[in-house]
Amino acid sequence: MLGDWSGRKTLPAVAAKTAAFFFCLIFLAAPGFGQSLTGRWAATSRTLDNGETLKAILELTQTGSDLKGKLTGLGFGVDVTGTATGNHFELFGVGWDEKKPFMVGDLANGELRWQQWGDAYVAKAATAADEFPKLPYLEPPPLHKVAYNGLAKTPPMGWNSWNLFQGKVDDQTVRTMADAMVSSGMRDAGYIYVNIDDTWEGVRDAQGVLQANHKFPDMKALADYVHSKGLKLGIYSSPGPRTCGGYPASYGHEAQDAKLFAAWGIDYLKYDWCSAGIIYKNDALQPVYQKMGDALEETGRPIVFSLCEYGMGSVEKWGPEVGGNLWRTTGDINDSWASMIDNIEKQAPTAPYAGPGHWNDPDMLEIGNGHMSDDEYRSHMSLWALTAAPLLAGNDIRTMSAATKSILLNKEVIAIDQDPLGKQASPVKSGDLETWMKPLADGGVAVGLVNLGSAPAQATVKASDLQLGGKVKKARDLWTHSDVKFENGAYSVTVPSHGVLLLRVSAK
Ligand code: GLA
Repeated sequence: MLGDWSGRKTLPAVAAKTAAFFFCLIFLAAPGFGQSLTGRWAATSRTLDNGETLKAILELTQTGSDLKGKLTGLGFGVDVTGTATGNHFELFGVGWDEKKPFMVGDLANGELRWQQWGDAYVAKAATAADEFPKLPYLEPPPLHKVAYNGLAKTPPMGWNSWNLFQGKVDDQTVRTMADAMVSSGMRDAGYIYVNIDDTWEGVRDAQGVLQANHKFPDMKALADYVHSKGLKLGIYSSPGPRTCGGYPASYGHEAQDAKLFAAWGIDYLKYDWCSAGIIYKNDALQPVYQKMGDALEETGRPIVFSLCEYGMGSVEKWGPEVGGNLWRTTGDINDSWASMIDNIEKQAPTAPYAGPGHWNDPDMLEIGNGHMSDDEYRSHMSLWALTAAPLLAGNDIRTMSAATKSILLNKEVIAIDQDPLGKQASPVKSGDLETWMKPLADGGVAVGLVNLGSAPAQATVKASDLQLGGKVKKARDLWTHSDVKFENGAYSVTVPSHGVLLLRVSAK
């Protein structure tokens, strides 16, 4: 064993070195063992839309086939663990998805090459010139309460570029999306925010003013266009030095950026933790978000403040204190049943903290993006409505199918989401059926039964379970758009696998 070998302090030094040399030769030549990946690697990848190069520093220690280390990207830092098999390696982020490595690659000719979130990285042994510039630590401000901005009395509704377009969003996409929000009826149904997510950023000029990149030649003109359609414009930044996509963000420029956004005519800011985690520990989440809350208030422009820090540090308990109107409660959604259900179930404990002006956000909608069935998308929409979640469509509004339109534009379901009482339903499981009940401002309730199983299931709603004194005046199925009858104190119907029964019930 290696440990025994290195522990033989009695061998004369020369003999020990010679033996170690031959041991290494045998070790490296043995099938299944590659060259060690231990080292500090400096990687580059593609060119970002602002002309900068996407880079990372990977520090690795290999012990046998086990790998441990730290990856520092432009937008984040994460501890990594994984395995090496010969020259091949796979790395997982600590605290991230345990089943799927996010970095997969090989060592060849002294270079590490890997794939990470669709980008190819090539790394060489790092030199001093490769290190990221050290940034000064900016002490977070003392805590105080930021005044409520009066916005988002009901959960914000609109569209966001990230889920479908990611780095491919540009001025033309946003303009044509705004047109489609009007022509499709989305705007009139309440979806008024058109939100540009990450990758719009350019670089800062000599005065520190952040420019948009070539994809957004004139942000002010874009805001004017969006406003001329009766819509509002949203933008994205991070309290760290870089956004999650590696673009310049607001660290040390909070007031300057808030002023810039206000001058452009921005109405909504999504503020994403990302690289702030390189600088601050989680105990600084609240003051760091407060800093931007203050900066937005200072502009005098009403700007919805959307916190995005994936639910860390019990954000639901202090989100309103920093001026937040909504806050993410989970990691990123993807267009799959498992991810959608996981996100909505994970945020269940936050239910008591939702209310007018401040909402829990299980992430944006995937409806219409093509990887779930219509039954699954109806469940997605129903669950977001029952939990008073923000409704930010994440699909291509310009090319929506009739089925997608019928889901996103279901006014009876939207009314559940937008109910002025602002209560967030919690789940109760019974076998494959999960029941969510939301009290409504008119004294009635919305009740949803989601079939989590792989076979159709009989769903029964009992009047006695609805907290309406057992008396049902009117019950309406919000997906068939028809009134239904409770007989002998119950209503029963078959729900397809991954489908939903959504009723609005009023009391006598
Ligand atoms: C994070 C957020 C996403 C999106 C991306 C953009 O992952 O959670 O919603 O904004 O960053 O880089």
